[in-house]
Amino acid sequence: MARIPNAFIDELLARVDIVEVIESRVPLKRAGREHKACCPFHDERSPSFTVSGTKQFYHCFGCGVHGSAIKFLMDYDRMEFVDAVEELAGRVGLKVPYEGGASNRQTDGEGDEMYAVLDAAARFYQRQLPASAKSQSYLKQRGLNPAIIQQFGLGYAPDSWDALKSALGSDERKLRLLDKVGMLSTGERGSSYDKFRDRLMFPIHDRRGRVIAFGGRVMGDAEGPKYLNSPETPLFHKGRELFALHQVRTAHSKIARLIVVEGYMDVIALFQFGITQAVATLGTATTKDHAELLFRNSADVYFCFDGDRAGRSAAWRAVESVLPRMRDGRQAFFLFLPDGEDPDSLIRKEGTDGFEQRLRNATPLSEFFFLHQESETDLNTADGRARLAEKCRAHIASIPEGAFRDRLTEMLVEKSTIKWSFSPGLTSSMREKAGELLDVRLAEARGQHAEPHAAHAQYPSRAPSGGPNPRRSLVRTAIALLLQQPALAAQIEPPYVFAILRQPGIPLLMEILSICLSRPEITTAVLLEQFDGREDQDALRKLVMMEFPSTPEHWKAEFLDALDQLNRQTAQQRLDDLLSRQQHTQLSNDEKDEMRELLRSRVRTRSAP
Ligand code: UTP
Ligand code: MN
Repeated sequence: MARIPNAFIDELLARVDIVEVIESRVPLKRAGREHKACCPFHDERSPSFTVSGTKQFYHCFGCGVHGSAIKFLMDYDRMEFVDAVEELAGRVGLKVPYEGGASNRQTDGEGDEMYAVLDAAARFYQRQLPASAKSQSYLKQRGLNPAIIQQFGLGYAPDSWDALKSALGSDERKLRLLDKVGMLSTGERGSSYDKFRDRLMFPIHDRRGRVIAFGGRVMGDAEGPKYLNSPETPLFHKGRELFALHQVRTAHSKIARLIVVEGYMDVIALFQFGITQAVATLGTATTKDHAELLFRNSADVYFCFDGDRAGRSAAWRAVESVLPRMRDGRQAFFLFLPDGEDPDSLIRKEGTDGFEQRLRNATPLSEFFFLHQESETDLNTADGRARLAEKCRAHIASIPEGAFRDRLTEMLVEKSTIKWSFSPGLTSSMREKAGELLDVRLAEARGQHAEPHAAHAQYPSRAPSGGPNPRRSLVRTAIALLLQQPALAAQIEPPYVFAILRQPGIPLLMEILSICLSRPEITTAVLLEQFDGREDQDALRKLVMMEFPSTPEHWKAEFLDALDQLNRQTAQQRLDDLLSRQQHTQLSNDEKDEMRELLRSRVRTRSAP
């Protein structure tokens, strides 16, 4: 067994900077002379993982892990000792000396030879490529250029039962190796033959660039599956590898994002068009190991799936693998492709810019999470909402403690309360009244002057009774947001039940909303002009200047939230009205039903999330 001399290890650790090694995997913050992060080896909220550049040492005060750069790679990248040493030596340009002769690692005696035979097979297939007219015309038809064919080491497995076998299997031992790495099939009578025949060959590399398996694609209408992949072997476990991760790592020292697609051809097309951060799973669903591997290489991961049902359910399986890996700082996005397209066809059609645009519009994990859950639940029943909350909570529990988990929990609470206030918490009587009011307002906005004040004459405004801070009331917030971004009006759907809320500012909010609805292109400036000469205008000017701590992308959520709360106040007000009327008069049957409906929905809110 070859050994690495201790003197070399010492020299290596003296040359390597542990801060750099760790920082490329875990974002570090400087804290005095040291660096800190939330520990990558256990879940925590406040950083107790410390890296010392002066001591070239890491230590977690939370869980106690500690060690050198070598130990870190072994624990974090799950490398073996020799691999970790090789990786670090590569970084600083040292060659690892092995004592006892052998120039490289030998784990189970045949490890090196397995890699060597796969490497020889890859080179054998590459050599066959230029002479194969069939491959050449196929590659041309698929639009692959020579540089990309070279970069991915594509080759051709000849149409023969024993081309590879005779080229590389010169003796029993070699044959056994070829079989062990999955290059041979065995017939009924125990004779072996080439597994890959008459196929375009895609070598699959491990992270360090060694060939560990192949995928082979039929060309034309040959028999068998479209893609044939190597079986699981001692070197190849498809649930743990990603096609092209090696090429991505070679192209970038720091990988800003990774794009996960389904096919080898998709990866290659993206690379050819300059998107050199694409990887593919190997014909399997995204596993938890894949998710971890992806995030260890990049904090932002984009998953591309078909837009159809099958694609969405594959995307959901990816979500289940990704959630337990969502530590702070990591982000996942989902990109659903138009019908009948894959990334390969799409980037050829829309170009790099088109594809980048799609990536920018990808759905964040949090959003897809709820879209999917809601699509599976009937939110119009109390039962459905309770089930939604329960299912979501189970998934949310699988997320490591941190900001992302908090955010989803918050969103879940929001979701279940929004459902409460819109339906059926708001009764049909309220919706009807609100509808009438809106009609009047819209007529006004269109300049038809249909009895402008008749409607809220029924609902006289009350002076604020000391309630919440009037400077930042919900109504003022909603008006300010709408003034500053009039397009928000189109984002909400009737009934606008808050219209019947007796509160200062509500008539003004309704007036502005109606103007925006009837003039969807209106700008803030033009909107303000509508109030020229009115005493409201001063107040509106101030609201136009009101500043929001959140960025404009978040305004929609804030706007909806404000309206939602107003709706809830409306329901409460209606309930209070009915309850107090009940003291003095006999309620009609309809009113009694309405009151019961409101009471029931109130109970639901408390028990929903
Ligand atoms: P696709 O059929 O979507 O692949 O399968 P693709 O890359 O778009 O294929 P072409 O070349 O453009 O027609 C996606 C992936 O699923 C696996 C392969 O990994 C493939 O890249 N697969 C597919 C198989 O393993 N076997 C098959 O028979 C088909
Ligand atoms: Mn394709």
